[in-house]
Amino acid sequence: MACAFTILTQSVSHDIALIDSNEQKLQGEMMDLQHGSVFVKSPKIQASTDYSVTANSRVCIVTAGARQKEGETRLDLVQRNTDIFKSIIPQLVKYSPNTILIIVSNPVDILTYVAWKISGLPRNRVIGSGTNLDSARFRFLISQKLNVAARSCHGWIVGEHGDTSIPVWSSVNVAGVRLMDLNPDFGKDNDKEKWASLHKQVVDSAYEVIKLKGYTSWAIGLSVSMIVSAITKNLNTLHALSTLVQGLHGVDEEVFLSVPCVIGENGITSIVKQILTKEEQEKLQKSAKLMHGIQADLKF
Ligand SMILES: NC(=O)c1ccc[n+]([C@@H]2O[C@H](COP(=O)([O-])OP(=O)(O)OC[C@H]3O[C@@H](n4cnc5c(N)ncnc54)[C@H](O)[C@@H]3O)[C@@H](O)[C@H]2O)c1
Repeated sequence: MACAFTILTQSVSHDIALIDSNEQKLQGEMMDLQHGSVFVKSPKIQASTDYSVTANSRVCIVTAGARQKEGETRLDLVQRNTDIFKSIIPQLVKYSPNTILIIVSNPVDILTYVAWKISGLPRNRVIGSGTNLDSARFRFLISQKLNVAARSCHGWIVGEHGDTSIPVWSSVNVAGVRLMDLNPDFGKDNDKEKWASLHKQVVDSAYEVIKLKGYTSWAIGLSVSMIVSAITKNLNTLHALSTLVQGLHGVDEEVFLSVPCVIGENGITSIVKQILTKEEQEKLQKSAKLMHGIQADLKF
């Protein structure tokens, strides 16, 4: 609902369809949104348990599934949400064969792989929201430390949207000035300025918010709205998104992980190959092996 609300209020789309298996909740959410029609630009808001309502969607955002419970990792959700995807993805593709799928449900990297396999769509049209949110959290935390707006603090978190995500310390810059050039220990354990703790905070962010309010919503809604906007407006902007990374940075496995992706009306059109240190590459390869091991046990 945070994705839908942000997409409507930011005028990214004025034509949305909501699907959920919980019919009562769905009707309530649809009515609540429709009652705000006067305040947004003439929206068409539909909702149904029947997928025909989604016909000819340019973008389908999949957020269905079990949410993390307090203390539960994203990877714990995997088979439960894979089973749910088996009922959802074929229906979406049946009614919108030209669609671009954006997967948000967790564990997002593995479920994006699952959606890619089940859908039969080309890789450029199956996108995981990935570490776009982690990168935004990282930039927010940098902004708090430097007292510079988050939008003007640049930095990338790549890899898994989860416990093994990787901060690319060498890419962190403000106005092109790399923080690593100012502080040679930047991001390292012995760093007196303790920048590495920011990454730990990013990893702990979702757990912390879930502990405090039960779920995360607003930031992921904003993050997804930006991805949809890049597609519908053909912006060719760069975002850290989960995509097939086999063959990149020494990853051998058929897995989805986040790297900077150029995104426009055809989905992901190219990947920017960052200059990663040996250690960062090894971490990415380790995440890939972890994802691949879990995928091997999945039944779908
Ligand atoms: N990638 C991210 O950054 C990110 C951020 C927040 C949440 N999430 C993930 O999104 C998912 C949803 O989280 P939430 O907080 O919105 O949970 P939620 O419980 O509020 O919503 C999930 C919805 O899915 C519906 N659903 C379940 N099975 C379905 C099916 N077979 N068909 C149609 N609808 C079905 C439920 O009825 C429910 O309304 C979780 O996996 C969560 O971990 C990901």
